[in-house]
Amino acid sequence: MKPVSLIQFLIEERRAGHINTELSLLIEVVARACKRIGVATGKGALGGVLGAAGTDNVQGEAQKKLDVISNEILLEANAWGGHLAACASEEMEDPQPIPDMYPKGQHLLLFDPLDGSSNIDVNISVGTIFSVLRCPDDVTDPKAEHFLQAGTTQLAAGYVVYGPSTLLVLTFGHGTHEFTLDREIGSFTLSRRDIRIPEQTGEFAINMSNQRHWEAPMQRYIGELLAGKDGPRGRDFNMRWVASMVADVHRIVTRGGVFFYPLDAKIKSKGGKLRLMYEANPMAFIVEQAGGAATTGRERIMDVQPTGLHQRVPVFLGSSQEVEHATRYHREADSAQG
Ligand code: AHG
Repeated sequence: MKPVSLIQFLIEERRAGHINTELSLLIEVVARACKRIGVATGKGALGGVLGAAGTDNVQGEAQKKLDVISNEILLEANAWGGHLAACASEEMEDPQPIPDMYPKGQHLLLFDPLDGSSNIDVNISVGTIFSVLRCPDDVTDPKAEHFLQAGTTQLAAGYVVYGPSTLLVLTFGHGTHEFTLDREIGSFTLSRRDIRIPEQTGEFAINMSNQRHWEAPMQRYIGELLAGKDGPRGRDFNMRWVASMVADVHRIVTRGGVFFYPLDAKIKSKGGKLRLMYEANPMAFIVEQAGGAATTGRERIMDVQPTGLHQRVPVFLGSSQEVEHATRYHREADSAQG
């Protein structure tokens, strides 16, 4: 079969009426920026990109040099194309307007420029996550409040993994598709169309070091998985935790599995660990479009009405039967408490 490039795929999606020209251009620009991030990431120590930047981001987290570099690459690439009304990033408190000298488009772009940044210096896969929303029609100067749209309104979502291969996984709400970067010709090429995540799985991902801080229903659910054949589930489960959400989600998108970053006593006041607008929502859209499920443990992630640009939520996502099982335990515990 002849290889299908990302550009060809975007033209097909346009002809199918799934996206307009502006959104197609936006995805091309994001993909091109991510190729540059991939090159910067790949240089490692030789490019002087490892280590701390010596600054903190809006959430008070220490930034790595590559967090800052990746953020700048995405901002710069998207400033002048005329397809965006504004950008928002994990690394910036407020949305970044489009400079006055450039035309403005109808879309809002949100991104985590370099997810899993604790893994950069140890040469483990990291990634970029992004989400695209429509700018409300009557808004010419978008502010944070205009980004606060539920995940169900996303027009597109994607992530890029910078690993042994550089991969782009993308959805426009018509299936989830994977593109592998052909490094020789510099082109993202379709490698899997209409990915399906199996409903059932024997593999889960969670940071077990937080176990003692979890809520009771999470303790119950994971306790039963760990009990394996001898417990109520009657079979053994395997565990993986990369600590780069992109890499953990990509494993699930490839062979099934379930990923949890639940609420725990340490992070309860923040609402969770992962960010709704540029981590949980895009990943939920991608996973649902591949037949999986994504909840906060209580409700569907994409139904959450956002209240802040950098809002955090608990995340349960992946093979639908396990996500539903864990979510049921939380709902049962809530109703028992009245
Ligand atoms: P960041 O965006 O700061 O790189 O956060 C990484 C996220 C996510 O990628 C990963 O699943 C999780 O944090 C790992 O958290 P722990 O270190 O608590 O395991």
